[in-house]
Amino acid sequence: MLKIALPKGRLGDKVYKLFEGAGYACPELLTDSRKLIFTAADGRFCFMTVKPSDVPTYVERGAADIGVAGKDTVLEAGADIYELCDLGVGKCRMAVCGRPEGLSELGVPLKVATKFPHIAERYFAGLGRRIDVIKLSGSIELAPVIGLSDVIVDLVETGSTLRENNLEVLAVIHPISARLIANKSGYQFKRGEIDALVGKLRGRERT
Ligand code: PRP
Repeated sequence: MLKIALPKGRLGDKVYKLFEGAGYACPELLTDSRKLIFTAADGRFCFMTVKPSDVPTYVERGAADIGVAGKDTVLEAGADIYELCDLGVGKCRMAVCGRPEGLSELGVPLKVATKFPHIAERYFAGLGRRIDVIKLSGSIELAPVIGLSDVIVDLVETGSTLRENNLEVLAVIHPISARLIANKSGYQFKRGEIDALVGKLRGRERT
């Protein structure tokens, strides 16, 4: 049986529709059920629904053979997994954002609020800039507005959260979208099944 980890929430619902369209249907997953594992009627595969940031952990440790995670989550986790394909959904950008004054005017070390400390550290290390990471779990845009940080490193989708808080994108770090990832040894054992699934999903990528 192919074990597939899907992220809970908005991205998960979109991604499930891609799997369904590719012939991997398990309609119970879209109900209000509190179940966490959904097995296909013919037993060919099962979906497990997990917190989005945990998908790389399930896949790296082989609890799931494959999974779907945003590129943000993949980069932050730094897990030892294969990235098989870009599913073309959940598109947004990872960016440094702040007040319009720009990066050069700001402090040393630069105070950076983020849910993604590893991505922030790698990006600024690449620029040779020393930072003080302030790890937050949500409402990141508040930090520079009230002076908790100089800038943020966060996801920008429509840009409306930035606009409504008088912030702007100062630098784009990475384009983001949902990726299909695989456990390295699971991929060797189940390569036929997984490649067949990738082929069907590729035919249904969204723009
Ligand atoms: C995400 C992200 C930004 C916002 C960007 O937050 O962290 O805050 O969405 O989207 P936008 O460009 O379309 O405004 P999320 O909605 O996950 O909530 P959070 O603040 O709890 O992290």
